[in-house]
Amino acid sequence: MTTTGRTTIGIIGSGMIGGTVARLSVAAGHQVVLSNSRGPETLAELVAELGPLATAATAEQAAEAGELVVVSIPVKAFGEIPAKPLAGKPALDTGNYYPQRDGNIAELQTGALTSSALLQRYLPDAHVVKVFNNIFFRHLDALPARPAPMTAPPCPSPAMMPPPRRPRPRSSTRSATTPSTAVPWPTAGARNPAPPSTAPPTVRSPTRQAPPPTPPASVST
Ligand SMILES: NC(=O)c1ccc[n+]([C@@H]2O[C@H](COP(=O)([O-])OP(=O)(O)OC[C@H]3O[C@@H](n4cnc5c(N)ncnc54)[C@H](OP(=O)(O)O)[C@@H]3O)[C@@H](O)[C@H]2O)c1
Repeated sequence: MTTTGRTTIGIIGSGMIGGTVARLSVAAGHQVVLSNSRGPETLAELVAELGPLATAATAEQAAEAGELVVVSIPVKAFGEIPAKPLAGKPALDTGNYYPQRDGNIAELQTGALTSSALLQRYLPDAHVVKVFNNIFFRHLDALPARPAPMTAPPCPSPAMMPPPRRPRPRSSTRSATTPSTAVPWPTAGARNPAPPSTAPPTVRSPTRQAPPPTPPASVST
């Protein structure tokens, strides 16, 4: 990110998801460099729609230009991504593996690798991060441009903090090896027995004592 807060995002694969990420990125004020498999001239319409923050290039150039690079292509094309310019950069992988589209990729079929692990194998020096693979592109497009700012309550000042708890006095007769709060395991048949009380006996306040029982009325004979 530059001092202006603007990031250049390379996009490898500018279809439904890649194009949507490009649109959201431009709306958030970032620069995008779009690419696809057919060449930059085929992206002219999309670039015109996105405006001056968008340009089109080859996949190699998009990888070079991007501070972070979105990889949004079918998994079967992972091997065609230029690895060198992605070294040391975040590579944001939107990919999902569909054998019907991508063919039979043995490690993915057996579960030996995830599709992101496969991408990481092709891009050994990039930092592969899985993103947006579980959201439909239209839903991604409909997300608010920016999340609302967090409104965490302010940190309380020391004056507002409650006083620290004083430690309970320990009985001098209690063995140091016996935990004071040990609760015996309930015996078979005992249902949720109350744990033995470790609190000192409560002393009732005289004002809250129950009135003394009234003596039985004397029976006159
Ligand atoms: N569509 C969704 O809602 C959605 C949601 C989550 C995840 N995904 C996953 O995200 C990935 C992209 O999906 P999509 O729906 O956006 O696909 P898409 O619309 O078919 O777009 C694929 C893009 O990848 C480009 N491409 C293909 N091979 C390339 C290569 N070797 N180098 C550079 N670009 C290449 C294509 O360029 P050309 O057109 O020039 O061939 C196209 O721009 C897939 O793995 C998909 O499973 C999709």
